[in-house]
Amino acid sequence: MCGIVAYIGSRDAVPLLVGGLQRLEYRGYDSAGVAVVGRNGELRVRKAKGRVGQCLADLPARFKGSPGIGHTRWATHGEPSDANAHPHVAGTVAVVHNGIIENADELRAKLAADGAVFASETDSEVLAHLIARAQADELEEAVRQALQEVVGTYGIAVVDAARPDRIVLARNGSPVVLGIGEREMFAASDVAALAGHARQVVHLDDGELAVLEPGGFRTFTLEKRATTKLPSEVGLDEESYERGEHRHFMIKEIREQPAAVARALTGRLDTRFHTAHLGGLNLDPREARAVRRVKIIGCGSAYYAGQIGAQLIEELTRIPADAEPASEFRYRNPVVSPDTLYVAVSQSGETYDTLTAVQELQRKGGRVLGLVNVVGSAIARQCDGGIYLHAGPEQSVASTKAYTSMTVAFALLALYLGRIRDLSPDAGRRIANGLKALPGQIERILAQEDRIKEVAGALAEYRSAFFVGRVRGYPVAREGAQKLKEISYIHAEAYPGSELKHGPLALICPERPTVAIVPDDELLAKNLTTLGEIRARHGRILAVAHTAPGPALADDVILVPKNEPELDPILLSVPLQLLAYHAALALGHDIDKPRNLAKSVTVE
Ligand code: AGP
Repeated sequence: MCGIVAYIGSRDAVPLLVGGLQRLEYRGYDSAGVAVVGRNGELRVRKAKGRVGQCLADLPARFKGSPGIGHTRWATHGEPSDANAHPHVAGTVAVVHNGIIENADELRAKLAADGAVFASETDSEVLAHLIARAQADELEEAVRQALQEVVGTYGIAVVDAARPDRIVLARNGSPVVLGIGEREMFAASDVAALAGHARQVVHLDDGELAVLEPGGFRTFTLEKRATTKLPSEVGLDEESYERGEHRHFMIKEIREQPAAVARALTGRLDTRFHTAHLGGLNLDPREARAVRRVKIIGCGSAYYAGQIGAQLIEELTRIPADAEPASEFRYRNPVVSPDTLYVAVSQSGETYDTLTAVQELQRKGGRVLGLVNVVGSAIARQCDGGIYLHAGPEQSVASTKAYTSMTVAFALLALYLGRIRDLSPDAGRRIANGLKALPGQIERILAQEDRIKEVAGALAEYRSAFFVGRVRGYPVAREGAQKLKEISYIHAEAYPGSELKHGPLALICPERPTVAIVPDDELLAKNLTTLGEIRARHGRILAVAHTAPGPALADDVILVPKNEPELDPILLSVPLQLLAYHAALALGHDIDKPRNLAKSVTVE
């Protein structure tokens, strides 16, 4: 999805903007551009369809200046083209915009009637014209006035060649983060672009504007009320944003899982009382004991992690729990009850559907915990408490380590809630020991990469696949199908094993293999029956299992170490990530930037 970077200071902005945009490439985009104010007060703009490296490669030596703004665009209004790329310019003003202006057509008609000439088909260009036409002495007032006219979502950065001493930024629904340097200031839509430049960051809130000058910043609301922001230290270690020796970010992040899980557990397991320490929940034991239901919301892989979380919570606490896609939840006028604990789960912390679902819940009095990876992100700040995942930056569009860390965070939450209710110390110890074993067990799965690669090569020859699992294995199957679809473009569909005979069995045939999740748990016999049903229809089977089902029931097997039954889904998901990765690699796809997808979906 679109990315923004901005710089003001004594250095030339161009290389900083280009470097920042390259850091945001992982989010997906189709065109890029920069605008800087040159030494003689002239506005220099370069923008084009294509990769940052291509469209900003051959800038002339005189293309220098500060302040500057840059953008990577993911087309919404208007096709990917040079003209539709940002920045958009009107007079001396240049604007980059993330989000969607809903009343753009109406504003465009009014502006055109007033003589504005449009150079693009984008909704964003109206912002440039509105700002350039505002009757205001200061750029920030012009931006504020323009935003009063606008309905929709935005994260924007604005420079004006007539006011080269400042950059103005604003946020409503699309993230904007300020980065504080030494007598220089940065801004971006994602902290990844600030790595190596700023140690302290400030997140804008919805309805806030910021003015950046080389020596600092100030913030205020759309109603002109000054706001106070406390900068937070962020471990912006440049190396964590680099691919290093790995071929793709996805495989790097898959391999980082033992360390990510260890970090998620650090300091959170209490060996004395066999429970979890979760300092950020903002929920005292009495309040936690009063919870009668848990409702989890998230999108995509975060939703599937939420399904695993719901089962963990039900099993360890006996509190009814379920998960629902946040993207559906927010549209169905949900019943919000005071004795339900709501949990929003998100890697980026910026997913618009999840954020708006949280806001809707809070409006109706719901208490929402956030399980979020990105520190200081909108969902993390919006929630009433929560658990940070500490998975480290995740840049591949396909979520792997953040997904796994989400499931681990749910296990910690379930352990905590269970131990203040009916879960016995022995059961608590069993789960805590199981959690401690996870990093080593994930290492053992990763050690099988060569074997999984072989199986993935065979899977890559099919156009369509089924994933089946029962109860604890079903969300694992859903996430496995999701991973395969996203990056290999092989059609994949997940079903509960028990549902096959109610319809999908009709599709079982030699041309459509099944990936079956077969844990050694109380449903093993049922799962083996499902394998038999598939084999009887000549369907090929890849079993992801604790024990090999035998050649009569499976053509291939990936063996996974056994943990406690409640925690097994966490491990069973890992080989499916490697399976999807190597299938996509065999097919020659652009793994970190799959077609049509963006890393964080900050629009409706
Ligand atoms: C995961 O592989 C997907 N790219 C996607 O489903 C993702 O999990 C979803 O968009 C939610 O993102 P979030 O965790 O940042 O909220």
